Amino acid sequence: MRKLTDALYSSGTVPRQSSGQAGHPTAHESARRQVAGSARYVDDLPEPARLLHAAVGLADVAAGSLKSLSIDAVRRSKGVRGVVTIDDVPGHRDIGAVFPGDPVLVDGEILFHGQPLFAVAADSYEQARQAALAAEWVIEPGTPVLTVEAARAANATVGKTVEFQNGDSSTALERAPHQLSGEIHIGGQEHFYLEGQASLVIPEEDGGMMVYTSSQHPTEVQKLVAEVLGVPFNQVTVDVRRMGGGFGGKESQAAQWACLAALLARQTGRPVKLRLPRGVDMAATGKRHPFVNRWRLGFDDQGLIQAADIEVNGVCGYSPDLSNAIVDRAMFHSDNAYFLGASRVVGHRSKTHTVSNTAFRGFGGPQGMMTIEAALDDIARAIGEDPLTVRKRNLYGTDDRNVTPYHMTVEDNILPELIERLENDSDYWVRREEISEFNRANPVIRKGLALTPVKFGISFTAKHLNQAGALIHIYTDGSIHLNHGGTEMGQGLFTKVAQVVATEFGVALEAVQVSSTRTDKVPNTSPTAASSGTDLNGKAAQNAARTIKQRLIEFATDHYAVRPDQIRFEHGDVIIADQRLSFAELVQAAYLNRISLSATGYYRTPKLHWDADRGQGRPFLYFAYGAACSEVSLDTLTGEYSVDRVDILHDVGHSLNPAIDIGQIEGGFIQGMGWLTTEELKWDDQGRLLSNSPMNYKIPSIGDTPPIFNVALYPQSNREDTIFKSKAVGEPPLMLPISVWCALRDAVASVADYRISPPLDAPATPERLLFAIDAIHDAERNAS
Ligand code: MTE
Ligand code: MOS
Repeated sequence: MRKLTDALYSSGTVPRQSSGQAGHPTAHESARRQVAGSARYVDDLPEPARLLHAAVGLADVAAGSLKSLSIDAVRRSKGVRGVVTIDDVPGHRDIGAVFPGDPVLVDGEILFHGQPLFAVAADSYEQARQAALAAEWVIEPGTPVLTVEAARAANATVGKTVEFQNGDSSTALERAPHQLSGEIHIGGQEHFYLEGQASLVIPEEDGGMMVYTSSQHPTEVQKLVAEVLGVPFNQVTVDVRRMGGGFGGKESQAAQWACLAALLARQTGRPVKLRLPRGVDMAATGKRHPFVNRWRLGFDDQGLIQAADIEVNGVCGYSPDLSNAIVDRAMFHSDNAYFLGASRVVGHRSKTHTVSNTAFRGFGGPQGMMTIEAALDDIARAIGEDPLTVRKRNLYGTDDRNVTPYHMTVEDNILPELIERLENDSDYWVRREEISEFNRANPVIRKGLALTPVKFGISFTAKHLNQAGALIHIYTDGSIHLNHGGTEMGQGLFTKVAQVVATEFGVALEAVQVSSTRTDKVPNTSPTAASSGTDLNGKAAQNAARTIKQRLIEFATDHYAVRPDQIRFEHGDVIIADQRLSFAELVQAAYLNRISLSATGYYRTPKLHWDADRGQGRPFLYFAYGAACSEVSLDTLTGEYSVDRVDILHDVGHSLNPAIDIGQIEGGFIQGMGWLTTEELKWDDQGRLLSNSPMNYKIPSIGDTPPIFNVALYPQSNREDTIFKSKAVGEPPLMLPISVWCALRDAVASVADYRISPPLDAPATPERLLFAIDAIHDAERNAS
């Protein structure tokens, strides 16, 4: 018999003490390797023999039909081994994630400037990029639809208009003592993940494909690669160890590059790596949806909203992609934290000849929230109250003031207490006084202050996605191998789920090894998205762990003749009545007695129901809450500004890992601040993306971190039965910096002594702020 490795830790590999249990601020599992540069991304993997490198050739008009495409010169180009066009696709040509509309390469019609026409594989990356420039084509140009206005005039949409109705909003609007309306343009956002889109595909001996990719959705990559090649799903295996950021940009839109690499691998019979250069990545992949939203609110003398009519309009680009769900989520968050009374919310999906916009942290929610927050500022100015006072008055309450426009009852609202606490911790009212005084004394530099809440619904709104699987093996030295359906993109999912498993077995976190996400280990997974990664995979892994633990308990009960309640797993040991064994000793005894030490786990989220036709139901298991108070200084002569102080109080339920959660809050805040301030997407009148590099697209840098940046966790457990009563944290903090945008607007409003609510679109670039200041001066001149 093979000798078992000593279980008494003479090898020192598996620590005996438990550490890093659920609730501990343990460092991210990859942190050291990421800092040292030894964490591997797709482009860092050891390259297989005979590897080819791929590049894509892009269309140079936004609309038209492809009359001819000559790739002869591409084929003749130095080092070229293969070229594919749409005619080389043996299986499905369309890789649309939910609905069709996304041909893997141009299929007759040009849909946007930058759409891939063909892909080429060569011996080196440089040769591939060089060859991609050699194609010739004839395109009969069409008339591109590039703006929302043009899309609406042409009635161009990628999906049905959806409506929520709760009560008789039009009558209530007419009867309300006051009415206000407005329109706001909200810009999109480039994901700017540090690792761009990348895939490495290795053909296998049986015609199958092994795919290493930077994707949030390995299962969908598996499905689409198989469909494009025309092979069964079981011939394709997808492996994702980690992404260098995804932020939603790799939820659906990583698949195309894996499919193209697979097509080239099939054609050449050689491994192919396709890594997009940054400029191509920016031109050819979708972004956060710009929105143009309109609102009309009816309210009383106190600013209390009685009726609402809100219209959100997402600019989707050329195809549906995930836009239907994204515009839905904008609608679901057009109330943010407020009871709107009798309400109507309408969502449109405009189709344009631009890249197909996609998931981005918040998934439409942020664009919905911006609208009501802008409107609340306007109401406050109209009635001459501080915006915070008006916000607090309108928060969801109890009894009759707790039903959303989509008929879900808000049962877990903690915002009144949370805001009160932040109001005190941030000295809101004292600083409001100080700022008013400062502004009276300073004509040029003006300060602004705002405190805004976030209420974000947690669950996929497509019900079937709310499920997850996990796989756990325990080896005979007591070390644990964990695999689950979620992907790691920097958010700390692997660390948190490993903490869950370590806690279940009472062992140290170091005893749990998480391996790359693979479709041949846990099948049919959902994307890691909607902030649900830990909620879903944490529960699935807990379920798998409990299955094995139960087997161990049953075995020990029998073997040591004790009762189940006399067995405890703690500190890397198992206490069995008055005996203490190491975890590994029990595992070895179980193995020798033929107990299975491997199990799958599964979880599905309870309580969800959604009637899409009626626009009613409970799309979310719970809400994550938070609030932020931001202070800014604005130079009214140049429009330049700084964010001077930020205080955040955010609700993550019972934190699984406070270090990671605070990191998510800080990172989400800064990313959202970039969206609302400096990050501006620009296209020319031909539909060509102008903001296509870090030189002309400004994401926040370390110097943009507010000098005072206080982040605290709200100390309360989730009321719902989530994994260790924690709450999802990935997306909600992105919406906290709406407070920065409101504070900038507050600084502008000070110019007219807060009597006027200045018009301001997002992002609030220095240029837009100057326009807003001009508009205020104009309004004052007209008034006098
Ligand atoms: N954090 C990092 N560091 N990198 C990322 O790509 N993506 C965000 C968020 N936080 C992201 C991130 C997005 S869009 C989502 S939906 C969640 O993480 C996904 O992970 P989770 O469900 O495990 O929170
Ligand atoms: Mo996140 S936008 O749900 O990937």
